Amino acid sequence: MIKFKSHLPFPFEHTQKEKDDLLKDFHKTLSKDEIGFFTTFENESLLTKTKDVFNKTKQFKNFIHIGIGGSCLGPEMLISAFPENNDTNFVFLNNTDPDDIFYKLKNINLDNSLIYVVSKSGGTAETIGILNYIISHYELDEEYIKNHIITCTTSGSGDLYEFSSEFGCKSLSVPKDVGGRFSILTPVGYLPALFAGIDVDELIKGAKEYQAELIRPDNQCMEIALDIFKLYNSGVTQTVLMPYSSLLRDLSFWFVQLWAESLGKNENFGLTPVPAYGATDQHSQVQLFMEGPNNKYMMLLEVENFVHKLPMSSKSNLKSFNKLSNYTVNQLIQAEFNGTLKALKNAGRPVLQITIPSRTPYYLGQLILFLETLTVYTAEMAGINAFNQPGVEAGKKYAFEYLES
Ligand code: PA5
Repeated sequence: MIKFKSHLPFPFEHTQKEKDDLLKDFHKTLSKDEIGFFTTFENESLLTKTKDVFNKTKQFKNFIHIGIGGSCLGPEMLISAFPENNDTNFVFLNNTDPDDIFYKLKNINLDNSLIYVVSKSGGTAETIGILNYIISHYELDEEYIKNHIITCTTSGSGDLYEFSSEFGCKSLSVPKDVGGRFSILTPVGYLPALFAGIDVDELIKGAKEYQAELIRPDNQCMEIALDIFKLYNSGVTQTVLMPYSSLLRDLSFWFVQLWAESLGKNENFGLTPVPAYGATDQHSQVQLFMEGPNNKYMMLLEVENFVHKLPMSSKSNLKSFNKLSNYTVNQLIQAEFNGTLKALKNAGRPVLQITIPSRTPYYLGQLILFLETLTVYTAEMAGINAFNQPGVEAGKKYAFEYLES
C-alpha cells in the first residue's frame, strides 16, 4: 500500500461533519452517469478487447501515438515509468510543432509501424491535422490505413469513429463517462502499455485494490484534500509534485494536466501545479521552494526500493570521493529525499510525504487512482466541476475560427 504522512506547520483538525459532508458529496458525484473514472478499470471487456487488438498487431516495432492533452500524457507517463521490458520504439506526436513532427518521423519505417490515433471527441484539430499530414505526405493507401491505423475514440460518434468505419480500421473506445485526463486506465493507456511490455493486469489490480481505501470513512485522501483546501484559503495556492525518481518524472506532467484542468475553474478557484523531480530539482527549483513565497504545498514522493543497487566505491582518497565510498547511489537519493523533507519542514513549508514500496505497475495503479480521487475531493471542497474544461474548449473553437478567417 502507498503510505502518506502530512507535515504541516500548523496541522488542521477536520471535524467529523466536514469529513462526512465531503464523503457524501463525493459519492453523489460518483453516482452520476457521466462520471466513470473511479470504476472504469473494473470493466474487463475494455482490456480484453485491447489485448485482442494487441495480439493482432504486436509484430509492429514502431508505435506512433497521435494525441494531445489527456489523450497522450497518460501513455507517455506509463512508457517512461517502465522501460524494463520495452522492445517497442515509441514516437509521441503530441504537438503541432512541424519541426518536431518532421524529425520524429524522419527515420521511421512506416511499414513496420502502428499508428494509434487517440481522441475522445474525435475532432481535435492537432490530432486530426497530424493524421492528415501523415496520410497525405506518405501517400498511405486504403490498405495501409486499414491495417496500420488504430483509433481510440468515443464509440459510435465523432469524426474519428466515422473515419475508422470508412476505412475499416480497428477501433478501441474511450468510455463515454471518462474524460481525457482521467482516461489512463482505459484503452487510451492500455494499448501503448501492452506494447511496452507493462503488466496491465497489475496496473488495474493496484487501482482496484485501492478503491475501498479511498472511500473509507476518515480516509487519508479526503483528509489531504481538506488540508489542501484550508491551506488554499490561507494563501497556499500552488501544488508541487516531486517524485524522487527520473522514471516517474512524467508522472508530474500527467498530474499537472489533471490538477490544472480539473481545478482551475470559474475565475475564483485554482491550484497552480508545479512539476518537479528529485534529486535533480534540488539543484534548480528547491531554492525557490525553500525560501521563496510560502505558497506551495509540496508533495514529495519517495520510492523505497529501486530495482538496481549501484555502489559508489571510490578508488581515490580525495575527500568528496571518499565520503561516498561506503554507500550506494540508492542510499544517496534516499538521503537527499530525507534531507530535503527535513529542511522544508524546518522552513515551515507544508509537505506531504508519499511513499511507494517500489516502482511497479501495481503501485502506479494505486497512485493514479489516489491522485485522480484527490483531485475530485478537492473539487468537491471548492464546489466546482472537476470534469469539464470550458477554457480548453473555447481555445479549440477560436483556433478553427482563426484558420478559416
Ligand atoms: O482532459 C481533457 O479532456 C482534455 O485535455 C483532452 O484530453 C484534450 O483536449 C484532447 O481532447 P480529445 O481527446 O477529445 O482529442
